Amino acid sequence: MQAITYQEYGNTEVLTLSQMARPTPKENEILVKIFASTVTPADIAFLKGNPYIARLFTGLFKPKNKVLGTELSGEIVAVGKNVTKYKVGDTIFASPADGSGAHAEYICLPEDGAQARMAEDWTYEQAAAICYGTLTALPFLRDAGKIKPGDKVLIIGASGSIGTIAVQLAKELGANVTGVCSGNNVELVEALGADEVIDYGQQDFTQNNIKYDVIFDTIGKSNFHKCRKILTDKGRYLTTTIDFSNIPYMLFGNMWGGKQAIFAATGLRKAAEQIIDLAFIKKLILGGKLKIIIDRAYSFEQIADAYAYVDKGHKVGNVVVTFNT
Ligand SMILES: NC(=O)c1ccc[n+]([C@@H]2O[C@H](COP(=O)([O-])OP(=O)(O)OC[C@H]3O[C@@H](n4cnc5c(N)ncnc54)[C@H](OP(=O)(O)O)[C@@H]3O)[C@@H](O)[C@H]2O)c1
Repeated sequence: MQAITYQEYGNTEVLTLSQMARPTPKENEILVKIFASTVTPADIAFLKGNPYIARLFTGLFKPKNKVLGTELSGEIVAVGKNVTKYKVGDTIFASPADGSGAHAEYICLPEDGAQARMAEDWTYEQAAAICYGTLTALPFLRDAGKIKPGDKVLIIGASGSIGTIAVQLAKELGANVTGVCSGNNVELVEALGADEVIDYGQQDFTQNNIKYDVIFDTIGKSNFHKCRKILTDKGRYLTTTIDFSNIPYMLFGNMWGGKQAIFAATGLRKAAEQIIDLAFIKKLILGGKLKIIIDRAYSFEQIADAYAYVDKGHKVGNVVVTFNT
């Protein structure tokens, strides 16, 4: 099969179109022919081995997993002999457990991994872009943020993969939502349901004299110190990225139960929890309550261009890569 591989950390020039043996499913695995995947900032981080702390998981000097790709959609073409939950011909969307392996023609996944069946009228492009944003935004807002109806929530990076989902999920949880994005994306963020939108090019959101119960920085453009004064007394500051300036607040600030700074890692969650979350997300999408935003689609052969585009940091929602079409 064809796969995009990398043998060392670097920029897009280390990505190679390679021939690899097609994997064979173990007794409890399904073999999926991948039709679409995405390129995400997580792929960029794994490609570069930066932030360095991530190398504790991805390999200190060289990448352990040679194929990137954190999410996918495709069709099951073989199943191991103990598989009962899925059958050949089922179409699924999935998030591989180690956050890699989806930039290839085939992948083996455990039957009880973080995946779910596609709805009949979904496209592979749309389905491929569901897992990364939703499986990150949902636990941040629901579990770490403990959002209640009426809470005031600020979403920084409201036009990104995680942000576009976070705005919609926070509304679904009953919050009053303010999104922070650039002027180009104000209309989109309003259309996703935000009650207020702040164009960060025009206004500094920390200077508005408005307090928030939850601030969710989806892209690591702020820090707890800067946001502290606009948090309510028991407010929570959530961040997807590791900023060393936040660590003392995360370690010690939380001990006194006032304003809290919280980082969480989606990749460390159990597949069983993620399966439940995907069922919830699927229901929201089918009910028209959650939209997956696609910025651009690239072919498999153009994947280096997709990486270069995502690396610029301005994508709106998701960047999809299509295979086998
Ligand atoms: N902790 C975890 O488990 C976990 C899981 C997944 C991902 N992550 C991390 O989450 C981060 C974000 O991922 P993502 O995929 O959502 O990002 P993304 O889609 O690349 O977000 C980019 C968006 O942010 C906007 N933006 C840029 N600068 C901004 C600013 N100063 N204020 C507000 N918006 C701004 C960009 O538009 P403009 O340039 O037009 O403003 C663009 O629409 C990555 O660092 C990734 O590694 C963490």
